[in-house]
Amino acid sequence: MSQITTIDQVGAYVGQMVTIRGWLYNKRSSGKIRFLLIRDGTGIIQSVVVKSEAAPEAFNATEILTQESSLEISGTVRADARAPGGYELQVSDLRAIQIAEDYPISPKEHGVSFLLDHRHLWLRSSKQHAVLRIRSYVIQAAQTYLNRKGFVLFDAPILTPAACEGTSTLFETDYFYGEKAYLSQSGQLYAEAGAMAFGKVYTLGPTFRAEKSKTRRHLAEFWMLEPEMAFAELEDILSLAEDLVTHLVQSVLTDRSEELKVLERDLTKLQSVVPPFPRITYDQALDLLKEKGISHPWGDDFGANEDAIISEQFDRPVIITHYPLETKAFYMKSDPQKPDLALCVDVLASEGYGEIIGGSQREDDYDTLLQRLVQHNLPRESFEWYLDLRRYGSVPHSGFGLGIERTVAWICGINHLREAIPFPRLLQRMYP
Ligand code: 4AD
Ligand code: MG
Repeated sequence: MSQITTIDQVGAYVGQMVTIRGWLYNKRSSGKIRFLLIRDGTGIIQSVVVKSEAAPEAFNATEILTQESSLEISGTVRADARAPGGYELQVSDLRAIQIAEDYPISPKEHGVSFLLDHRHLWLRSSKQHAVLRIRSYVIQAAQTYLNRKGFVLFDAPILTPAACEGTSTLFETDYFYGEKAYLSQSGQLYAEAGAMAFGKVYTLGPTFRAEKSKTRRHLAEFWMLEPEMAFAELEDILSLAEDLVTHLVQSVLTDRSEELKVLERDLTKLQSVVPPFPRITYDQALDLLKEKGISHPWGDDFGANEDAIISEQFDRPVIITHYPLETKAFYMKSDPQKPDLALCVDVLASEGYGEIIGGSQREDDYDTLLQRLVQHNLPRESFEWYLDLRRYGSVPHSGFGLGIERTVAWICGINHLREAIPFPRLLQRMYP
């Protein structure tokens, strides 16, 4: 029996026999030789089956193998600089496990709607595979980063009794005994309770927005990483955001270069993501827009268009602070110097990718917070526990949410968020 291994490990077995279990990606023939591209989830390896060298059954099996047939293949590993991945398998044995039916996705161009209908299979193609590997890596790198800095992972509930980011984008569902529940828009409010218990926490999980939005930047279900810190002011989270984003981009550059190559990502754009990120206020952003011939009324939040124009002025992410309080969520603290501004931040990714982070210092005064709840027409009963955090040892505290799909789409250089999550939930799509 030869050693069972995976394609990403074959480099350790040059000159030896190994067995790989995977799927047929592609095949071509040349006389008495068959070239099989095998994928196993960790990589792709070219496997050469020579009629005179392989077992007769093995050679015959190559005839009936269709694209995506599952198989077990054994052979000798050879280093070959020209081969994709740098190694080749000289096949001696091959066993088909299942002969796949006509595979719907071929190398030819398919429409996006067709591909999304076949998302469960589309995941196997090299570009999708690269994006989702980077996603996995980004989530892991972010957690490692925060864990090292002393943050505690603090899971927030998904079924919640009230809105956090505005009542217009809530998914409602029935809870027990006639009560309504809402899918969480953000774990933040719970993270604040966590920060008062642990000092520094982060939540990581799916969040939901019932926005009837068809843009490339909106999903109905997306993942958010939300660090929250006690004894922290706006300035503290600006530094954390800058450092975290830099860390994510630079570690993908170092550790996921193969995937970036598959995606044909312009690396110079990512290399320039280093501190300091430019920091401007909302008012300065308005001036910048005016210079570009866009007059944006004071008080209105920026849309995707404004975000793109602003971020295109810089070669790295831009930090925008002090938006008008009016447009912002109820929990944001107003600037003591200019009470009509919020102590808040948006970080816009470079290359026009728009907002990847939104955050703020939180209102820590009981009376002011109560007033804000009233102004926002939020039901006080549902927020009594949240008000408690201001009754019992309130301190300045701040945090932000980093959108995982926005971050991944930007790092990968892909156009649409739908490819940055395994199964996107979109306005007109919940299948598969
Ligand atoms: O700016 P948002 O709405 O902030 C919050 O939810 C805060 N409670 C976070 C906090 O302070 N803890 O969302 C934060 C980020 C955005 O910057 C964006 O990256 C992402 O979440 N996001 C979305 N991603 C995909 N689809 C959507 N519909 C998104 N809405 C927000
Ligand atoms: Mg936001």
